[in-house]
Formats: sequence, structure tokens, C-alpha cells
Amino acid sequence: MKPNTLFMTFEGIEGCGKTTQARIFVETLHQRDIPAILTREPGGTRIGDQIRKIVLHAENTDMTPMAELLLYEASRAQHVQQVILPNLRNGIHVICDRYGDASVAYQGVGRHLTPQLVKEANRLATGGLQPHLTILIDIDPQQGLSRARARNLAFDFAIKEGRFEEEDIIFHRKVREGYLTLAHEQPERFRIIDGSGSLEEVSRQIQDIALPFFEQSQGK
Ligand SMILES: Nc1ncnc2c1ncn2[C@@H]1O[C@H](COP(=O)(O)OP(=O)(O)OP(=O)(O)O)[C@@H](O)[C@H]1O
Ligand SMILES: [Mg+2]
Repeated sequence: MKPNTLFMTFEGIEGCGKTTQARIFVETLHQRDIPAILTREPGGTRIGDQIRKIVLHAENTDMTPMAELLLYEASRAQHVQQVILPNLRNGIHVICDRYGDASVAYQGVGRHLTPQLVKEANRLATGGLQPHLTILIDIDPQQGLSRARARNLAFDFAIKEGRFEEEDIIFHRKVREGYLTLAHEQPERFRIIDGSGSLEEVSRQIQDIALPFFEQSQGK
């Protein structure tokens, strides 16, 4: 990996604004001629996109928690080898919409596999590759879910990508707590952003926090 090349992730519960904000942030980097790619989990590779269809399809209600975890880890292993590491080695910053913390929060806490077990699975899948910076967009689960469900209806995502939106509010509260615990355990890597405001308010907060990391790495 070239020195100063950054791996940054966006995390948070359903509908908190990860995909929207990751896109805005990468556009901001490109406007400043900072080389960066945007990628996502599950997915980001040909194999990963096939796994994404299985894990997010709302009709796959009979998936066991362990099968769910291992599907995510398979997608992650492919993604690290095929996309994340090659770009970092070429000096291109990698911005990723969800990564290993999502499995700790969803499968570890939400599905009760335990954070410890999921952290070990993450290490196996990633070879220990951790983001330099993780933006946790924190939001009340009711607000996040109502945004995500409205989006799914508008874009016809409800069946193909809506499996987690079908979970009850208690599940999403556990996931949120899982994320907040991770952020408090690793304050050097995590920054918690309030996701309840407007798009502009949230993106301003993210830029204020994250842009200095990238400008410093470009020597600006
Ligand atoms: N700050 C905001 N205010 C109002 N609406 C927002 C805001 N951020 C995102 N949205 C809208 O809410 C919906 C969900 O946002 P987005 O898809 O970015 O969330 P996400 O965190 O990626 O969700 P998921 O976990 O389901 O992928 C989208 O329709 C988006 O346009
Ligand atoms: Mg998203």
C-alpha cells in the first residue's frame, strides 16, 4: 500500500444516508482532483454482486445467522483482494459503503452471533485490513427505516434489496447500539455524525471531518 493512501468507510443503520453521503463525498474529492473510488458491500465485485442478491432478497427469510455472516464474509474477501487492496496499492483512495463493522453490528449484535466471533470472521476475510477512517451516520431507527422504506417503494427495491427493512424496530435498535459500542471502543478510527438533519447539513459535517485527512495525504 502506498503511504498516505486512505481507506474510508461509511456505516450506520438502514436509511441513515450512507449511499447518498458516500456519493457526495467522492464527488467532492474528484472536484479537488483527489483520486478515489467508491465501492460498496455486499458487492463491489462480480462475485460479490451475486452474493448481494442472495443476502438482500426479501424472500430469503429462511437464512440462518451463520449462513448470512459467511455470505457477507465471502463477498468481503473477494472485495478486499479484487478491489480494495489493488486500488490502495495504486495510490487511489478507497471509499466503501459498509464494511466489516456492519457485520459486527448486524450479525454480531442484531443476530446474536457475538461481536467477538464476527471480528474473528472479519479478520479471516480481510487479512486484518481495517479502514483508516469510519464515518458512522447515527440516526433514530424509526427515521432511518421510514426513509429506507420510502426509497424502496419509489425505486422498486422492496423485494430485491429489502430483507433487512423487513426486520422489526427492536432488531434495528440493537444494530444501532452495536455500531455505537464499536465507535466508543475505537475512537481513533470512528467519527459519529448526526444523520437526522438535511442532506446538506450531514454532508457539511462529513466534509469538515474527513476532507482534512485527504488534503493532508495529498500534501495540500
Ligand atoms: N439527510 C437526509 N434527509 C432526507 N432524506 C435523506 C437524507 N439522506 C438520505 N435521504 C434519503 O433517504 C433514503 C435513504 O438514503 P440512503 O439510500 O443514502 O441510505 P443508506 O444508509 O444507504 O440505506 P441502506 O442501509 O438501506 O443502504 C434515500 O431515498 C435518500 O435520498
Ligand atoms: Mg445504501
